[in-house]
Amino acid sequence: MAVVAVYSVKGGVGKSTIAASLAWSAATLSRRQTLLWDLDVQGAAAFLTGCDAANGSRAASIFTRDLEPDQLIVPTPYDRLDLLPSDDSLRRLESLFAMIGKRRRLARLTEILSQRYERIVLDCPPALNELSAQIIRAATLIVVPLPPSPLARRALEAIRGELAYHHKKHPPLLPVLSMVDMRRKLHRDTVAELPDWPIIPMASQIEQMAARRAPIGSFAGASEPGRALARLWTGVERKLVEG
Ligand SMILES: Nc1ncnc2c1ncn2[C@@H]1O[C@H](COP(=O)(O)OP(=O)(O)O)[C@@H](O)[C@H]1O
Ligand SMILES: [Mg+2]
Repeated sequence: MAVVAVYSVKGGVGKSTIAASLAWSAATLSRRQTLLWDLDVQGAAAFLTGCDAANGSRAASIFTRDLEPDQLIVPTPYDRLDLLPSDDSLRRLESLFAMIGKRRRLARLTEILSQRYERIVLDCPPALNELSAQIIRAATLIVVPLPPSPLARRALEAIRGELAYHHKKHPPLLPVLSMVDMRRKLHRDTVAELPDWPIIPMASQIEQMAARRAPIGSFAGASEPGRALARLWTGVERKLVEG
């Protein structure tokens, strides 16, 4: 079992888009039992997999163990892919964690879920707080989408430094250049400077995910952006297997 967190301190960098695509790829291309767990109150993961937003305010109760994850998990339209949707109650998570004082609560929950799921993909909120600390303790691998810029490498090192400062041990980071537009010189220069980093192009097919409410693989898997997201999943799987 592996927990793949898609994380950044920034919003609007493509986290949810990438998380939904990776989860779809895990379920469809790798044929693994997969759970997409939405930890962000925005609820983009449900939206992008064509699921109804969770009604009610129970998502936080999983963390207090008042509710079993199974009571909230829903199937998506895709084989082997389930969703644990978010709702507004997640706004209370910080005070909840302070109250329950369990530093490994999310890690423990993902361990329990590993009886049913081979891959758990976490769509994370843009923050540096106790929830992100819990995510770091639970994750096997952290995918970090970064906007292409000469500062991308420094942005990654800043996150690495922050993790090293707060966590004796942290999972490996996989940086991804997100929303790359090769017509722009700055983007081309960044790509040339960071040849080993996976690239997700800025593309209308990817944007279409939000209009169609479906992962790109399900409607444009053979397009270049669709293949870029599938390749990203292959890279993630390789890293997971290599350990
Ligand atoms: N590679 C891309 N090409 C074009 N639009 C994208 C791409 N990635 C994300 N977007 C769009 O950018 C916006 C923010 O993406 P999202 O995945 O929600 O970011 P985050 O989860 O980091 O806030 C969304 O409208 C999404 O459709
Ligand atoms: Mg998001």
